[in-house]
Amino acid sequence: MKGQAKIIGTGSYLPERILTNRDLEQMVETSDEWIVSRTGMRERRIAATDEFSSTMGAKAGLAAIASAGISLEEIDFIIVASLTPDYIFPSTACLIQQQIGAKTAGAVDIQAACSGYLYALSIAKAWVESGMYKNILVVAPEKLSSITNYKDRSTCILFGDGAAACIVSLKGKEGRTLTIGNVRLGADGEQAELLIQPGGGCRNPATAESVASGLHYIKMSGNEVFKHAVRRMESVSRECLEAAEVHEKEISWVIPHQANIRIIDAMAKRFEHLPKERIVKTIEKYGNTSASSIGIALDELLKEGKAKSGEKILLTAFGAGFTWGAAVLHHD
Ligand code: ACO
Repeated sequence: MKGQAKIIGTGSYLPERILTNRDLEQMVETSDEWIVSRTGMRERRIAATDEFSSTMGAKAGLAAIASAGISLEEIDFIIVASLTPDYIFPSTACLIQQQIGAKTAGAVDIQAACSGYLYALSIAKAWVESGMYKNILVVAPEKLSSITNYKDRSTCILFGDGAAACIVSLKGKEGRTLTIGNVRLGADGEQAELLIQPGGGCRNPATAESVASGLHYIKMSGNEVFKHAVRRMESVSRECLEAAEVHEKEISWVIPHQANIRIIDAMAKRFEHLPKERIVKTIEKYGNTSASSIGIALDELLKEGKAKSGEKILLTAFGAGFTWGAAVLHHD
């Protein structure tokens, strides 16, 4: 092995339109107080009608390429993680490849719902470390508003749109890179139906009936998902730290998937030494942006100059599938 893979640049994109809790009060039977106390969310971003996962992903991708200081020709692969691709096929990765003009890059979509950023990071790490590719663009874009039922108060308050990206490579600008120390992933298909978009695939292809019964919208057993999310994010974080031989005391920042402030707090409480004041939270302003949430939070943390050289960052996620994952990053 020639060395460990690093994140050498990050980028993100948030659409302009803001959907506040007050706006939601006009749409469904809910209240700002209920949403804030049960989820920690105050507002979320909603993509314009002419913005898609590919266009938002392309913007985040170009920002990551600029931050890494590499050229488009140097990108040799694009991995997109999204549960809201522009189409089932062709892949959103191909659309982004065309939009940014990375003509020599291979391109593929992967699907791990809210854990997608970590799944993509793990694949990129392995491919870069094997020498198969040099610079991989990982993109996690989501237009969750396109599959959200704005008549269902139990789900429509949760989701927002946005995109995150990073470049994974062996070499980057000195002192500006994050070594990907370890990534652990897990899944449990037994729980597939607890969080699902039932329509649109080959099991329930789009028909007038499927649309009339709302099968194209997100369906979620919120309570069940909540319990699994806390337990899985705790256990996979522990496994990841152990495999990386890093004690929780050594972690300076934690970036959990932004699903619910109560999930984040319950997970953090299970650790004695994780720095509670350094758990990165963007949930108040962006809600749950699925695969992109960790990447957006990481990009903001770095742009704000908060994470310092020598610090370690723990990422952890949970999502539909069920899928889960954790990663330890070392700020070089
Ligand atoms: N406003 C007011 N009341 C509401 C709302 C709302 N928006 N939504 C639900 N309620 C009501 C319910 O109808 C219920 O009323 P009842 O007791 O009269 O039946 C009551 O509030 C409690 O409902 P619960 O579902 O038990 O509320 P809970 O505290 O569990 O919060 C929530 C719901 C926020 C969805 C929570 O369960 C959650 O965050 N779950 C996990 C979400 C998640 O992690 N998703 C994973 C990633 S997403 C992905 O992969 C795409």
